[in-house]
Amino acid sequence: MVLALACADIGTASIETLVVPVCADKRIHTDRTILAFLQTAKKLNEFSGEKNEEIIFYKPSGLKMKRVILEGLGKHDRIDAETLRAMAGKAVKRCIQLKLEAFHMMAPAFQSIKLDPPLMLSALMEGICLGNHLFDKYLEEKKQKPLKTVRLLVEAAAVQTYGRLPQRIETVCAGTALARDWVSMPPNDKRPEQFARLIVSQARKVKLPVRILSEAEMRRKGFGALLAVGAGSRSRPRMVIMEYKPNGARKTIAFVGKGVTFDSGGINLKPSASLDDMKMDMSGAAAVAAALITLARLKPKIHVIAALPIVENMPSGSASRPGDIIKSYSGKTIEIGNTDAEGRLILVDAMAYICRTYKPQTLVDLATLTGACVVALGEKIAGVFSEDDDLAEAIVASGQKTHERCWRMPLPQDYKEQLKSDFADISNMGSTRWGGAITAALFLSEFVKEARWAHIDIAGPAYAKKGEAYCDAGGTGFGVRLLCDLVDRLK
Ligand code: BES
Ligand code: ZN
Ligand code: ZN
Repeated sequence: MVLALACADIGTASIETLVVPVCADKRIHTDRTILAFLQTAKKLNEFSGEKNEEIIFYKPSGLKMKRVILEGLGKHDRIDAETLRAMAGKAVKRCIQLKLEAFHMMAPAFQSIKLDPPLMLSALMEGICLGNHLFDKYLEEKKQKPLKTVRLLVEAAAVQTYGRLPQRIETVCAGTALARDWVSMPPNDKRPEQFARLIVSQARKVKLPVRILSEAEMRRKGFGALLAVGAGSRSRPRMVIMEYKPNGARKTIAFVGKGVTFDSGGINLKPSASLDDMKMDMSGAAAVAAALITLARLKPKIHVIAALPIVENMPSGSASRPGDIIKSYSGKTIEIGNTDAEGRLILVDAMAYICRTYKPQTLVDLATLTGACVVALGEKIAGVFSEDDDLAEAIVASGQKTHERCWRMPLPQDYKEQLKSDFADISNMGSTRWGGAITAALFLSEFVKEARWAHIDIAGPAYAKKGEAYCDAGGTGFGVRLLCDLVDRLK
């Protein structure tokens, strides 16, 4: 999509479709023609600017426009960046439904709402770009077509001042769209060998160095935990390593993403209802890979490494069993208490490998790790676990800015008790079913020694059962915008 800032005289411009966000209790536009129009419109008593209200006027008199769509924002003191994102996404969905190719949107006047101009414009543009994403690869007939062009109308000086913003937003949102596509893709088309190749082909497009470790290499290196999880599937496990290394970078940050292309639970087979949507168990890997591809285009001055352990967790005669004891890359032995707690097994091999090989100062992993985290925080908020206050706070702040919300959770050392095994160094399964998101995070913590580390459990927000303003049902791409923002805070 072409996204651009523009300036126009509303009174005389001939615009096919104009979208105007309207606040319920305050003027947020200064253009006289618009104000006069809104005044007449509100008199009809069918539209008051409340949140989610929408009304379309065709060929309004006094304006050279085919249609004007008013979108309600609600009360002034409740309007934040997310209100704008959602409104913009909703407007895009409406225009797609009307089979339009383009529209103009009138941005609220600067200072008319409590947001800095670049934040306000970014939120509007994010809503537009993200709302324009459709996942229709598997439909024979594409009933909906994404928009081709959206112009955001701002005051003349801003077209220059914020001229670079549209491209940045488009790049980041393209990253989110890429992650969404991968997550929504059916599991028969993204088995580990395939998913690894999909990542490589996208990375090549932005000239990002990427390497796939084969099963033989992983065996030689001693990725015992990862291989144990992959043992049941006909599709062999992979580890994808991506590296973004600009000249002059001083810090190294590493990302690890859980890439289970389908989580059946393994021999501890999940009940039918829990198998729904388990194609989304690679959302961490999708977000991390898409974030690296995005960073390669944004070019921040920081060295970023990513490791993506990719497996399919299946039951079969060659699958790992509960009771098996395996040797992880770190050297620690692990008793498999439950084959459905597979994410932590593949993550610790990737994390220990990254720490030993690249010695990053900071390590962040993203994983759809536990149902318990969804119980704790619901479907929209991710859990953040870290002993490092600065890192945890940076992640929470990035979450607030991007609305990929993150909530810090505790890492109580005494809960480690629950991971004791009678026969191995550690068990992958807590001895009680309570606090499962915490015991999972504590398990991971045992395998990171050198770097400061944070774990983000995205089991809730990675996938949407129901579509929303700027995200259809399916993969949400959660984590891409979060990590891109985080990198800026850490560089
Ligand atoms: N992939 C699941 C976690 C999950 C659940 C993600 C729901 C998204 C939605 C993970 O591998 C898993 O099965 N975790 C178990 C751990 C338990 C066996 C210790 C869980 O959460 O029940
Ligand atoms: Zn599982
Ligand atoms: Zn899983």
